Amino acid sequence: MKKIAVLTSGGDAPGMNAAIRAVVRKGIYHHLDVYGIYNGYYGLVHGNLEKLELGSVGDIIHRGGTILRSARLPEFADVKVQEKALEQLNQHGIEGLVVIGGDGSYRGANALTKLGFPCVGVPGTIDNDIVGTEFTIGFDTAINTVIDAIDKIRDTASSHERTFVIEVMGRDAGDIALWAGLAGGAETILIPEEKTTIDDIVDRLQRGKERGKKHSIIVVAEGVMSGVTLAEELKQKIDADVRVSVLGHIQRGGSPTATDRLLASRLGARAVELLLEGKGGRAVGIVNNKIVDHAIANIFNQRHHIDDEVIRLAKELSI
Ligand code: F6P
Repeated sequence: MKKIAVLTSGGDAPGMNAAIRAVVRKGIYHHLDVYGIYNGYYGLVHGNLEKLELGSVGDIIHRGGTILRSARLPEFADVKVQEKALEQLNQHGIEGLVVIGGDGSYRGANALTKLGFPCVGVPGTIDNDIVGTEFTIGFDTAINTVIDAIDKIRDTASSHERTFVIEVMGRDAGDIALWAGLAGGAETILIPEEKTTIDDIVDRLQRGKERGKKHSIIVVAEGVMSGVTLAEELKQKIDADVRVSVLGHIQRGGSPTATDRLLASRLGARAVELLLEGKGGRAVGIVNNKIVDHAIANIFNQRHHIDDEVIRLAKELSI
């Protein structure tokens, strides 16, 4: 193998740059030419790529976002579009591809692998919802952003004796809400994986009030309902000053934490090793602090399971 390429796809995540850097530097270390593909699969289909040098990935390890930019391309599900991508790869003499992204990005990597082109998936998404890895690149930074916000909101919530609803990202996965809610000491955490009624929340708030609690923090994943809707529903049932904060895309930005930089460096480097070993169609991950890999075809169509023990603990600690 002489030439490989790397792209980032789907929602960006802090640490993607550290992963790109690892792929490029590990590749060059092993005497490979490494190409960067811009704008994800869209750029691949349209031949938007260039050779990256050691210096191309200098000074990026600490930066959020992705220097290769990212895009979502639902049309990539079409085999004709996949064949166009394949043509571009062949035309440039590229023999292996590292795809950094989430579930949708893995589908593309699996499709190309099925067409005979070796791809390796690297889990990059703030949602932490990829099967085959305990943590995804960007998740740790995102939950640190959320707990920073919770801490600040708690200050003002306590001064004014208010109830705050904080809406965080996660359409299908509640990991951000759960882990940040636990680390931020939220009284109530609402996630798509668990059904909670408004009455349950009201009961909880009531119990807190009875034991002298002056303020409350409720963290809700966007996939459950919007923070604004939740606050409206609560206001109909309780006599409290309920305020809302929607954290939105600030959760996707910022300098990656040490944990995310290290994870990205380890996963990106392992992806290159797999291509060098002739093992396409794999996805890398971290399990028990060891870098592992699995067949990508077995990963993208499985449902990620949230950690039940963490759910239980969050409930036990916020009685
Ligand atoms: O998948 C990452 C993610 O940030 C989700 O948590 C969120 O629901 C979605 O992307 C938002 O996507 P967009 O940036 O397209 O609005």
